Amino acid sequence: MFGAFRLPRSVLFGRGQRRALGSVTARIGKRALLCTDARQSAQPEFEEMLRDLASHGVETHVFDQTIPDLPISSIEACVAEVDGFAPDVVIGVGGGSSMDMAKVVAVLLTHGGDQRSYYGEFAVPGPVMPLVALPTTAGTGSEVTPVAVIADEERGAKVGIASPHLIPLVAICDPELTVTCPPGLTACSGADALTHAVEAYTTLARANDPLLTEQHVFVGKNILSDHFAKLAIANIFRFLERGYRDGSDMEAREGLMLAALAAGCAFGTAGTAAAHALQYPVGNLTHTAHGDGVATLLPFVMQYNQPSCIDSFAELARTVGLPDDTPDAMSQAFIDAVAELLAKVHIPGSLEALGLKADQQDYVAENALNAARLVKNNPRPLDLPAMQSITRAAFSGERSALRGL
Ligand SMILES: NC(=O)c1ccc[n+]([C@@H]2O[C@H](COP(=O)([O-])OP(=O)(O)OC[C@H]3O[C@@H](n4cnc5c(N)ncnc54)[C@H](O)[C@@H]3O)[C@@H](O)[C@H]2O)c1
Ligand SMILES: [Fe+2]
Repeated sequence: MFGAFRLPRSVLFGRGQRRALGSVTARIGKRALLCTDARQSAQPEFEEMLRDLASHGVETHVFDQTIPDLPISSIEACVAEVDGFAPDVVIGVGGGSSMDMAKVVAVLLTHGGDQRSYYGEFAVPGPVMPLVALPTTAGTGSEVTPVAVIADEERGAKVGIASPHLIPLVAICDPELTVTCPPGLTACSGADALTHAVEAYTTLARANDPLLTEQHVFVGKNILSDHFAKLAIANIFRFLERGYRDGSDMEAREGLMLAALAAGCAFGTAGTAAAHALQYPVGNLTHTAHGDGVATLLPFVMQYNQPSCIDSFAELARTVGLPDDTPDAMSQAFIDAVAELLAKVHIPGSLEALGLKADQQDYVAENALNAARLVKNNPRPLDLPAMQSITRAAFSGERSALRGL
């Protein structure tokens, strides 16, 4: 057995837990920078957080111009604006983009330099100022993960800064903050969490080596991350369609936020793989949301990976209550159930439906291979012909082309 966890020091979960923010922050610092976006800063809950922080003696500065997908220009605007405020704690309130903004800004305020010099794994030279994360979508899991994802316009690509130093000190997950998510955002972020969990559960397991966590930020499938991946998948199967149909269903909102948190705990250590590698160029070409892209790709990636994942997929089929059968049949039933669930919440069924052009398929396959940290994690080896087969099947929406490949 091998297991590894890298997690926040505290994770608070439950309705109303956001009201712990003032007290929690006051133990960490006196001057808090809040990174969020214009929609969030206009919410009454946000005003309430500022009052709570003030009543605990914490001075605040709000940057509310975070742009979705976190273009570099948005990061530069934030760093320029806080010049002179000198925070000693950074709080990210929002979806993955605002939480990732808080992470990158904490790195830059602590270590200086340019965000480009921190791309890749282990490039952040030491601890960063304390981070507190409050998600308002049930999706990315960024509140517990060691990575921030940036859109580098010059490179025309999404890039990651991956370092255990980026893990927030405290994650506060309050499902009430997600009630305002419209159905499309609920589906897209829930589908991102499902993709994290499935990819973490099936990512390549490495041999037990004492230096594994020193050499990789994302160490592969392991005994500890598996537990959280299953918790996430069970909850998404139970609650995604409910939360999508009725956003005021608080039980569904709780289940989905728990799922997103658990999926973050799983992939934050294990890593993700081909669906995330392929989404980078797809998102860049189609300007579609991260969650929609990874989820459109997921059933096709699973179909390609099936020969290497029979037992894992069969176990996940049991986790979501599919009928007992041979491992082969159950693994296929699980892939079909994932595709069905995603269709129910109107995730596009093909890359063509997502907006990709036919002549962009080869570019996607070639470019996806550049995400080396994700490609090396895939359970079945990936080369250019394999990426092309997945891309073509996903473009046409025909999973059968990948069966028996
Ligand atoms: N760091 C990680 O571990 C990690 C993991 C997966 C994805 N990501 C990144 O996270 C980003 C995506 O994050 P996201 O999907 O959470 O969305 P987001 O933060 O990009 O926000 C998308 C939109 O949803 C709105 N929104 C957020 N919360 C809302 C709410 N409660 N009610 C109504 N609207 C709300 C935002 O205002 C914004 O307009 C991408 O950049 C992706 O690459 C990061
Ligand atoms: Fe993701």
